[in-house]
Amino acid sequence: MDNIDWSNLSFCYIKTDCNVRCNYRNGKWGELETHTSEEINLHMAATGLHYGQQAFEGLKAFKGKDGKIRIFRVVDNARRMHESAEGILMAQVPEELFIEAVIKAIKLNERFVPPYESGASLYIRPVLFGSGPRIGVAPAEEYLFIVFVMPVGPYFKAGFKPTNMLIARKYDRAAPHGTGNMKVGGNYAAGMRAGEEAHKNGYSAVLFLDSKEKKYIDECGPANFFGIKNNTYVTPQSTSILPSITNKSLIQLAEDMGMKTERRPIPLEELDTFEEAGACGTAAVISPIAKIDDLEVGKEYVFSKNGEPGPISLKLYNKLRAIQYGDEPDTHGWVTILE
Ligand code: PLP
Ligand code: COI
Repeated sequence: MDNIDWSNLSFCYIKTDCNVRCNYRNGKWGELETHTSEEINLHMAATGLHYGQQAFEGLKAFKGKDGKIRIFRVVDNARRMHESAEGILMAQVPEELFIEAVIKAIKLNERFVPPYESGASLYIRPVLFGSGPRIGVAPAEEYLFIVFVMPVGPYFKAGFKPTNMLIARKYDRAAPHGTGNMKVGGNYAAGMRAGEEAHKNGYSAVLFLDSKEKKYIDECGPANFFGIKNNTYVTPQSTSILPSITNKSLIQLAEDMGMKTERRPIPLEELDTFEEAGACGTAAVISPIAKIDDLEVGKEYVFSKNGEPGPISLKLYNKLRAIQYGDEPDTHGWVTILE
């Protein structure tokens, strides 16, 4: 702890003091518990292990110049976990319980919230899974909800620098009416081989195409895709991408800046027309894209030739971070200040 180099953190697991847990048994949620152990004692037939009854969330807390801790859009994450749970028939964590657990986990680990000057943040990872045993395929009767936290730096090593991405034609991440719009672990397992192959070849992430026709832009690694042209922010409409809270925030900020915004299917060829492109998410924040390679068809789409983010990506990034750190007013009610 004493030797955390706050300004040079990456997106890695770090042990903090405590985690917060809640069990669902006999049809109801119990009391919030505080644990210092990183380990759990789990039934070997838990549905979370066998049948993928599992969902997680990712959100961040920021320390401002005023020393106050701000949580970004926690209600939205609570709602999305509710939807993920509903989608794969898990017990749903009530919104108030989710928020209470997040606040408790931050307070108990307050000394791990990075200082304002570092530009780092506290990443909060709520996870929910079937803990009760089943050997036939059916929803569990018992669930465990855990919230743990850790200080993090940028998800992509480059931080806010454009990186190259690769179109994954050989693999699908999610089916059109599958679980792609939920934050469930199975989607990440399905995308892992594509991601690792891309990393080995020097790409920061993969860009998936829609799995039915391979015509439209879909999910962008652990983030949503956006493109910018003619003062318009364009992002995919798809049933198989996660409804990103960062993307929703950027759409609002773009509108506040007087830009037009469009959420619609984006045909692959349209990549040629974007002046800027990026990936956005809690961990990724905005990760500008330098170039997208489509190796199977021998095509590349270039967005940044000088290694710098485009002006609109930069403006959106600065605005979002300013609200998160409390440097600019929170006019949309996105921030919860910890008392
Ligand atoms: N898409 C995927 C697959 C993700 O894992 C994430 C990260 O949470 C996102 C998009 C971005 O979502 P959000 O902005 O809510 O973090
Ligand atoms: C996030 O942005 O919070 C994510 O969950 C992305 C990734 C670490 C899975």
